[in-house]
Amino acid sequence: MTTQFGLLGRNISYSLSPKIHGANINSNGMDASYRLFDVKRIEEFLPHMETLDGFNVTIPYKEAILTYCDEIDRSVKAIGACNTVKRENGKNIAYNTDWVGFYQLLEQNGVLKQFEKAKVLVIGAGGAAKAILYALTKCENYEVTLANRTLDKAKELSPNVIEFSMVSETLEIFDIVIQTTNVGVKTYASPIEIKKIKENSVFIDLNYQQHLKFLDDSKKLGAKTINGIDMLIGQAAESFRLWTGQVADIQAMKDALEKGENKC
Ligand code: ATR
Repeated sequence: MTTQFGLLGRNISYSLSPKIHGANINSNGMDASYRLFDVKRIEEFLPHMETLDGFNVTIPYKEAILTYCDEIDRSVKAIGACNTVKRENGKNIAYNTDWVGFYQLLEQNGVLKQFEKAKVLVIGAGGAAKAILYALTKCENYEVTLANRTLDKAKELSPNVIEFSMVSETLEIFDIVIQTTNVGVKTYASPIEIKKIKENSVFIDLNYQQHLKFLDDSKKLGAKTINGIDMLIGQAAESFRLWTGQVADIQAMKDALEKGENKC
């Protein structure tokens, strides 16, 4: 029987997940499919849930899905959101693989190797930032500071915060700067002005547009820059590992995105 995977969300026709998962499924020679469940209300998805072996969850259902889960992994409890559900013996188990994707991004781009110790700045305090903060708890010697336009939201997530208006002035003390807001997705804009940065610093933007002002500006000043593609692939690979116990073909996933192919 064909193994069935999918993505639950709203307005997700743009999603790259079918492309990534499709490439991996093909590469593994699996008899499996990955389809979109683009629903206005989560209730519309519920009849499909039992037909799936595993599924991903995106906005706006990353919290709402928990009502329908039987077990909740500790990463979900810590981050407050679920992006992966595994169906096992009729039970729905909620996981978060976004943080694993981000950790893999750090690993694959040599960031963990470059910095045994680091001062890290995270910009933004939304759902994406929560996954990043959780991943950074695995980096024992990283000292993390959080900046957000709404300071109170940052204070809820971290004891170590700075005023948003101070970010541009303080950039030069940070080894790693991580941009987690969606500023720059629809317009070519950056949430902060980048004037002076630390030598050999790394700037990461979780978005994956080809041109991101935050990365372009920091690159001009000498930073190493990384966009969110590796995190996107990493979270998908970890979902696949949880669902099947198999290792995903990361290169096939990357190739599919680069070539703009959709073999599934
Ligand atoms: P996500 O789940 O993608 O992280 P979210 O939970 O809606 O999305 O969070 C969006 C984040 O982007 C927030 O940190 C938000 O800042 P506020 O808490 O002050 O709203 C940040 N953000 C959105 N637009 C912004 C802008 N123009 N400048 C700075 N930060 C912005």
